[in-house]
Amino acid sequence: MNAPLQKSPFLPLTVLLLGLSCMITTAPPEALAKATAKSRDHDHLNYFESALNSLTTPPLKSNNHSSTGQEKPLLAGGFDDDCSVWSKACSDEILRIAGKSDFSKWIKSVRRRIHENPELAFEEHETSRLVRRELDELDIGYRFPLAKTGIRAIVGTGEPPFVAIRADMDALPIQESVEWEHKSKNAGKMHACGHDAHVAMLVGAARILKARENRLKGTVILLFQPAEEAGNGAKRMIEEGALENVEAIFAMHVSHLLPTSVIGSRSGPLLAGCGFFKAVISDGNFHHSGDLVLAASAAVISLQGIVSRESNPLDSQVVSVTFMDSGDDPNASPKRVVFGGTLRAFSNASFQQLLKRIEEVIVAQAKVYKCSATVDFFKNSDSIYPPMVNDELMYEHLKKVSTDLVGPTSFQVVEPVMGAEDFSFYSEVIPAAFFYIGIKNESLGSVHSAHSPHFMIDEDALAVGAATHAAIAERYLNERSVSINGLHQGQ
Ligand SMILES: *[C@@H]1O[C@H](CO)[C@@H](O)[C@H](O)[C@H]1NC(C)=O
Ligand SMILES: *[C@@H]1O[C@H](CO)[C@@H](O)[C@H](O)[C@H]1NC(C)=O
Ligand SMILES: *[C@@H]1O[C@H](CO)[C@@H](O)[C@H](O)[C@H]1NC(C)=O
Ligand SMILES: [Zn+2]
Repeated sequence: MNAPLQKSPFLPLTVLLLGLSCMITTAPPEALAKATAKSRDHDHLNYFESALNSLTTPPLKSNNHSSTGQEKPLLAGGFDDDCSVWSKACSDEILRIAGKSDFSKWIKSVRRRIHENPELAFEEHETSRLVRRELDELDIGYRFPLAKTGIRAIVGTGEPPFVAIRADMDALPIQESVEWEHKSKNAGKMHACGHDAHVAMLVGAARILKARENRLKGTVILLFQPAEEAGNGAKRMIEEGALENVEAIFAMHVSHLLPTSVIGSRSGPLLAGCGFFKAVISDGNFHHSGDLVLAASAAVISLQGIVSRESNPLDSQVVSVTFMDSGDDPNASPKRVVFGGTLRAFSNASFQQLLKRIEEVIVAQAKVYKCSATVDFFKNSDSIYPPMVNDELMYEHLKKVSTDLVGPTSFQVVEPVMGAEDFSFYSEVIPAAFFYIGIKNESLGSVHSAHSPHFMIDEDALAVGAATHAAIAERYLNERSVSINGLHQGQ
């Protein structure tokens, strides 16, 4: 994620411009045709809804436990509930696995090894190798590579339903300022956005799920994705089949605004859509052209009115002009004036409206001054991120699961922020929900925002994060299978 979490949706421009996820890159432009062609599968939402409903009605399966003797849980010593019908005991069992001192020692070591060796977008070779080695140890199958360094691991029956959990792997071009034993060994590179923790938590979830594999009622896909900060790794992963058969997806991001292990999310808009524009003002076809600088200036002034006068004040949007270039000759009229900036919005509709109005306003103002204008939104490059809008049912699912797991006081509804995340590309294809896990611990000093050279985390959140991932995926399959079986029984 690019910009730090803000309590207020009105993000200062300075913070906004630190955003790296939303930068113009030179990576090859690729169409998202496949991804956007497929619309949301509403049948499956109905299934899911009836799964939720059926949980409030008496269990569909008998609670005959005498057949569970054949199951040999790897880590779950003595726990013999097959969790066909979820109970608090099932959540507690997942937490118990994650809470073992072995487990927490191991997951911290995974995170520290990644932290010491941060790799930038599409260069996550060692990180990816480390993950594959851990998966091999756990006897978990995977497909590699996707999107250069990405991995698609599989736990479960291999049969539908399929649910995915995603972690991003890339680091940032920042020099670490935190002095500690596992400080980055790569000069000028740092896991300053917590993606090392995301990878560790997903490997942790893989281990928990593997231990419970004989209880899974379907398949969990674990996606280790490159290049979230730059290059739209998510888009590439989708193009290379990451979401094959997958009907829902979840992802977690560490947050320095929530206390250690507190889970936070919200229904609907969570992160902004983000894009850039560049306008070129020129003489065009006019013989006696007007003043290009005046035309550009008028356009810049008029752009301010789009957000302040046209948009709904309750629907946060940003249009900022961030540069203007007319050369440096004080004694001649420029041949062209170039300016540009960034735009952000929380819904697809608002985002599309901003694109449309920015172009209209610039072209029309240029015309007023007998100039002409072209506006480029870099639509074919990797610089446009859709807004991250949480699917309502997936949000309800993650809220229910985490509340059950960590307790109702450890779940918080958070405010939307203007930052962007390429996880939103997955959310355009299938129902998705994005959530945070707190890593703030004042006595430890983990209070700095992501993308700060002082960024650090409270590692005690790692095991809880792994458990949360595992519980979200396992319960998703569980409740979907109840709903499918329930529907079949009803026919
Ligand atoms: C429970 O399962 C066992 C072993 O599969 C079977 O022998 C027994 O009849 C079942 N009991 C009920 C109440 O279904
Ligand atoms: C957002 O809008 C664009 C352009 O109208 C469209 O292609 C895309 O499918 C929309 N995305 C969603 C999630 O509705
Ligand atoms: C913060 O970290 C310290 C040291 O690990 C720990 O003792 C303390 O319980 C943590 N505080 C919270 C609120 O998690
Ligand atoms: Zn991030």
